[in-house]
Amino acid sequence: MHKDCERIMLTEDQLRSRVKEVALQVDKVYKDKCPLVVGILKGSIIFYSDFIRFLTMPVELDFMAVSSYGSGAVSSGKLNIKKDLDRDVKGRDVIIVEDIIDSGFTLACLKDLLLKRGAASVCIVTLLDKFERREYDIKSDYNCFLIENEFVVGYGLDYNEQYRHLPYIGILKRSVYE
Ligand code: PRP
Repeated sequence: MHKDCERIMLTEDQLRSRVKEVALQVDKVYKDKCPLVVGILKGSIIFYSDFIRFLTMPVELDFMAVSSYGSGAVSSGKLNIKKDLDRDVKGRDVIIVEDIIDSGFTLACLKDLLLKRGAASVCIVTLLDKFERREYDIKSDYNCFLIENEFVVGYGLDYNEQYRHLPYIGILKRSVYE
């Protein structure tokens, strides 16, 4: 385990088997379609690449990079699109793949945006759900793990752009970020 982690929350084995289980559920639902699978950079990269490899229907892959300014109940949030999709979503079934849903701001904005652009459907797949932190009325259609409000890193998730490459989800030591 990395020295900056207090403990491992989700092991490589736990991640592999749950991601497979969820991907196979999605696969069944979309088996006659060709969805556009949209990964939200950068946190989703490892989850995304594991998830799509369990899909058996034809898929197209695309990515967005976004950041939020002033998200939260107090200030009025605004989503900043740093990298937009290459493909047109009009009439397409879209699957958004995201590492974590926290306040829900990012996914609420993204779903709204893609529907406004004319997507036929938008489904949200998340690896982690910090359900206690929700401020916006949005739910994942498929989520792998409900987690407590801990500072988690690894399997794509970062702190100051570090730890994304760890193959497990670890809880960061408080001393690292306090
Ligand atoms: C994280 C995560 C989501 C968002 C979730 O992204 O990947 O996009 O925060 O938070 P919310 O539900 O409160 O909106 P982050 O801005 O850390 O960027 P990253 O994916 O590049 O790490």
